[in-house]
Amino acid sequence: MTERSDLTMSSRAADAARDAWDRFPALHTANAATQNAPASNATAWGLSEQAPISNLPPISLGGGIPDADTQPRAELLAAMQRVLDAPGDAPLVYGGPQGFEPLRREIGAYFASRHPSQPGADWYLLTNGAAGAIESVCASFIDPGDVVITEIPTFAGSLRTMRGKQADVIGVGMDDEGIRLDELEATLDRLQSAGRTVKLIYTQPTFHNPTGLTMTLRRRLDLIELAARRRVLLMEDHAYSELYFDEPPPPTLSELTDGFGVLTVGTFSKVIATGLRVGWVQARPDWIQAMVPARFDMGNSPLLHRMLHEYMVHGDFPQHVEQMRQLYAHKAKTLASALEPYQEPYYEVAEPSGGFFLWLRLRSGLTGDRVRDEAQRDGLSFASGNRFYPGGDGGADGESVRLAYSWPPTAVLEDAAERLGRAFHRAANGG
Ligand SMILES: Cc1ncc(COP(=O)(O)O)c(C=O)c1O
Repeated sequence: MTERSDLTMSSRAADAARDAWDRFPALHTANAATQNAPASNATAWGLSEQAPISNLPPISLGGGIPDADTQPRAELLAAMQRVLDAPGDAPLVYGGPQGFEPLRREIGAYFASRHPSQPGADWYLLTNGAAGAIESVCASFIDPGDVVITEIPTFAGSLRTMRGKQADVIGVGMDDEGIRLDELEATLDRLQSAGRTVKLIYTQPTFHNPTGLTMTLRRRLDLIELAARRRVLLMEDHAYSELYFDEPPPPTLSELTDGFGVLTVGTFSKVIATGLRVGWVQARPDWIQAMVPARFDMGNSPLLHRMLHEYMVHGDFPQHVEQMRQLYAHKAKTLASALEPYQEPYYEVAEPSGGFFLWLRLRSGLTGDRVRDEAQRDGLSFASGNRFYPGGDGGADGESVRLAYSWPPTAVLEDAAERLGRAFHRAANGG
């Protein structure tokens, strides 16, 4: 039984703790890396921008999130049931640093089927999504002050991760074929002759976020050669690669080098659901082993790994991905066609051949922020393009907006285009 005197003492202890900590600024206690981490925003977390202020029903073209109505709920539930019905408690205990081996094997067989080495389980480290994979790569290979080169624009979340790991992030522009190699070479010349350590080049060769662009095979080969000559690691992010509309994309950088000098990042987020939080680093086994010591989180969920494995081997997965390819091809076309009447004079677009995004480069003096704000008045949300630039503006690229057609129902995309058309008009004509 608790004595009255114990209770008095415990309330004195609570008072002392409150007095000591109540007004103590938490941020003062955070380490330098956390204090210097860039502020986060909805786009970096894959969420929609602010809730739209409008009487119209909200439409979000904000986050890179799979279609809401076609997630394979029944199949995932059945897979989970089979996992939990199996004898033994393996799904419910720790699973080790690399993640469930049969799932790693399955990922290799499906996602790297064109790879010269046919990566097996030892080529994978399973992580908390592709974001966790990028964080693991940075945690293992980046020292504070090392340089990471990224394409600009690029995925806002990766910029945050790299800066949070105290890398110096330097952007290199893109053209229609991918990252610009003349600019990359000049940047490497400048940095390496100043004695800087350029550790990584981060690229999204296929269905790039935010531009939707796919790097040509020629550019991939030239990039590999340049990076090898300068001995800089390539980190390729293939979050969207499976979601091609017609033809499969060119080979991954890893397929082209048999994995030498390349760390590949992948995820189930875009082909199934972002809430799974299961992704991976794929690399030659000695590089995976080099990363294992930097893992401190006791691994990811063995339960989810087993559910996904069960889902994949049951044969449901390829069919789901195939349906998603057709669905996103249709959604991309629907939105692009519905926007066409506004193209002249308001924007230019390179229609994507896969992935989730339309990237509109604005004309007529429009700014991304202004168009976004005007659209919000009609209940439509999406990201202004400046979110994807390390410096916070498009610089020489000019102004842009990113429209994610992936998540809302196809039926609302024409309405979204009409609202955007009105927003263009108001932004161009002073409100
Ligand atoms: C290019 C890219 N990489 C990585 C991620 C993070 O994905 P995950 O949910 O697998 O962490 C995203 C999410 O939007 C992305 O667009």
